[in-house]
Amino acid sequence: MLSLLSIGLTFLGLIIIPCLFISRRLSVPLSFTNICRLNKIASSQGNDEEESGTIGKKEKQERMPKHVAIILDGNRRWAKKQGRETAEGHEAGARRVVELAKEFFNLGINIVSLFAFSTENWGRPEDEVNYLMSMFEKFLKSEIPSFQSLKIKISIIGNRTSLPESLLGAILEAEEATKGYEERHLILAINYSGRYDILQACKNIAEKAKNELIQVEDIDEKLIDKELMTSCSEFPNPDLLIRTSGEQRISNFFLWQSAYTELYFPNVLWPDFVKADYLQALTWYQQRDRRFGRRV
Ligand SMILES: *[C@@H]1O[C@H](CO)[C@@H](O)[C@H](O)[C@H]1NC(C)=O
Ligand SMILES: *[C@@H]1O[C@H](CO)[C@@H](O)[C@H](O)[C@H]1NC(C)=O
Repeated sequence: MLSLLSIGLTFLGLIIIPCLFISRRLSVPLSFTNICRLNKIASSQGNDEEESGTIGKKEKQERMPKHVAIILDGNRRWAKKQGRETAEGHEAGARRVVELAKEFFNLGINIVSLFAFSTENWGRPEDEVNYLMSMFEKFLKSEIPSFQSLKIKISIIGNRTSLPESLLGAILEAEEATKGYEERHLILAINYSGRYDILQACKNIAEKAKNELIQVEDIDEKLIDKELMTSCSEFPNPDLLIRTSGEQRISNFFLWQSAYTELYFPNVLWPDFVKADYLQALTWYQQRDRRFGRRV
């Protein structure tokens, strides 16, 4: 009798009370399924390799999106709000990107893709563009050792033909140094746009048809998937796309690839997008996922 009581009290203490806190923080109703889910999220915050209790690696991956795409928005507004230079906003944003990607991989997410610089972003002030290019270079070079120790594969997508020579060098170096890894994949879109991606796929396909390597009848969705720049990834279609800062647009990021993607638009500037915010995004995603069934 006494042991039954103590089991009951332990259950209350260890499971219900922490969940109450999390559920209030994330404003999620505290149903039994949510208790289970929040409990799993909370316990998977710890070490990636050491699974606590009964949550296996497989289970953790099943309830997590495989591929999360992020449109980084709000660095400039963040800097302005704080009375700082635009460059400082981008710097803070870049630091947040690196931290967040690692945290996502720890949660069992396999692919994180970041819309870092679009083909339209060249229209920004020259100083800012130059700063961003040198920041990408610095970031790629300085992070190579940590990508290697965490076994993170790096891919850069977009039209890189006219990027600054030194950035191109850093891109090749980062890709070469991490090409052997499979489970964790960080995709950085630089001079990328969704329309450009579809366009270059069409050109490649037309070229192949012209050279009679393929027949027109061979052209199907699978073939297009293969020609898109996201074919570098095992799961090219994002399950979840997050765009920070409250704008509700895809802005020419993944167009073909996000046909079935769940779209999430938190009203937070990118450098302020912290753990509580992404846990909320993931909880929201898991509810969506459950409602609409699995997608490939
Ligand atoms: C960026 O990509 C666009 C689209 O392909 C291309 O026209 C442009 O020249 C590229 N710019 C640079 C600097 O690479
Ligand atoms: C990539 O950009 C270059 C110019 O920077 C352009 O000549 C080339 O056509 C672009 N590639 C594609 C596939 O659009």
